[in-house]
Amino acid sequence: MKSIVIAITGASAMQLGERSIQLLLENNKKIDLILSKGAYEVAKSERNINIPIEPKNQSYFWRDKLNVQSGELTCYRWNDHSASIASGSHKTKGMVIVPCTMGTLGRIASGFSSGLIERCADVHLKENRPLIISPRESPFNLIHIENINRLAKAGALIVPPIPAWYTNPQTIEDIIDFIVVRLFDSLGEDLGKIKRWDGPKK
Ligand SMILES: Cc1cc2nc3c(=O)[nH]c(=O)nc-3n(C[C@H](O)[C@H](O)[C@H](O)COP(=O)(O)O)c2cc1C
Repeated sequence: MKSIVIAITGASAMQLGERSIQLLLENNKKIDLILSKGAYEVAKSERNINIPIEPKNQSYFWRDKLNVQSGELTCYRWNDHSASIASGSHKTKGMVIVPCTMGTLGRIASGFSSGLIERCADVHLKENRPLIISPRESPFNLIHIENINRLAKAGALIVPPIPAWYTNPQTIEDIIDFIVVRLFDSLGEDLGKIKRWDGPKK
């Protein structure tokens, strides 16, 4: 089974990355997971969570936190340039960056593969494999917009974490699930039941 690469960067709404891991594992998928250095800092400051950096410990941490034993999960350090997923010869199903900072987005847009996330994204673009980026910033400045434009032209799919209001969400979990399931729709994965637009009520 080919893996899906998930990258979580140091943007707000890390819950989206977390729920992505949980739903993929519950659906018996294989995940290669990279957290940027910034993601560990945001987890600490925004959510008071200390995520282990050591890959094996991190894998146990997620399984415990998300209470899921199915699927396959491999974690990588942000600077592990010799990881299998850093090479185009290693096949994957695609890569999803959620949430994506403007920093990571800018580095990918300029081909600056300084960390494993950027390198992996670069590989997905050069191999013409799905690269889905969920950028989290507001407002966007012109540099952000130009970087997004560049990545979209290079083949990335830009899927901002924007909730749907026609579903009449009642909880934050409703909003998170809608965003995450729609994100993976883009990759051809069906991760769960959400309310979908079915035309106006009659
Ligand atoms: C609590 C917190 C929230 C942040 N939220 C965002 C955000 O939503 N979007 C963004 O582009 N940067 C955000 N940042 C800034 C990035 O974390 C910072 O630019 C970092 O260097 C990005 O590194 P990375 O792209 O390698 O994850 C946030 C920082 C903190 C501490």
